[in-house]
Amino acid sequence: MKQDNKEYMENNLSYDLNEQSLISPLDSETSLFSPKIRLGILASGNGSNFEYIVKSIENKQLNAEISILIVNNPKCLAINKALKYKIPYAIIDHRDCNSRYEHDMLVKKKLEDLSVELVVMAGWMRIVGEEIINSFKNRIINIHPSLLPSFKGVDAIQQAIEKKVTITGCTVHYVQKEVDSGSIIIQAAVPLKEQESKEKLKKRIQSMEHIILPLAIAKVAKNIRTSFMDNK
Ligand code: GRF
Repeated sequence: MKQDNKEYMENNLSYDLNEQSLISPLDSETSLFSPKIRLGILASGNGSNFEYIVKSIENKQLNAEISILIVNNPKCLAINKALKYKIPYAIIDHRDCNSRYEHDMLVKKKLEDLSVELVVMAGWMRIVGEEIINSFKNRIINIHPSLLPSFKGVDAIQQAIEKKVTITGCTVHYVQKEVDSGSIIIQAAVPLKEQESKEKLKKRIQSMEHIILPLAIAKVAKNIRTSFMDNK
């Protein structure tokens, strides 16, 4: 049975939805699956989304284990979070590689060596090549800070402000070759507020990202488990 946002929030989430945000589709109560899904997380920045995935696992909202966090930047703050939560991590610095292809192949090998089932790009500031996408067909997802298909690419929040939209948000989608273009899994809408700074808007969008990314992981993981059973 579908619950509305408010009821869902009261029953399942401790986050403040600000009573102005909307998540769709909100059918996560059906996204139960077993056994645990093995995740590989790719991050380049602060790692707040990575941290919320860890918290969702710890809170038993997500039946998953993180096999590896891969970062491409040795200075990125996501590493501190991996250390804090004792999650294995690997630094695969693109500056040590001669080409994008070489970097992609190192990332792909690491994910495959660890039998990762679902790859989550949680602030991965790199375009992934076809080799990774093909190896993880329907098993690689990304979070983007806009309501796709609006405002693809860099600085989506600035793009939304400049276009003077009144609602923006965030999207989790499957990754395909064209950037920010794969099928949409889940979105959250966030209204803009007059006179609000970009930083504050970013915070409100990110607080929604922290909710929808674990929900999307559960949804995709359920699909992976179901299609595995179908193929048996
Ligand atoms: C997020 O806003 C995400 O939408 C974008 O990169 C940012 C990563 O933030 N792709 P964090 O590193 O998870 O804090």
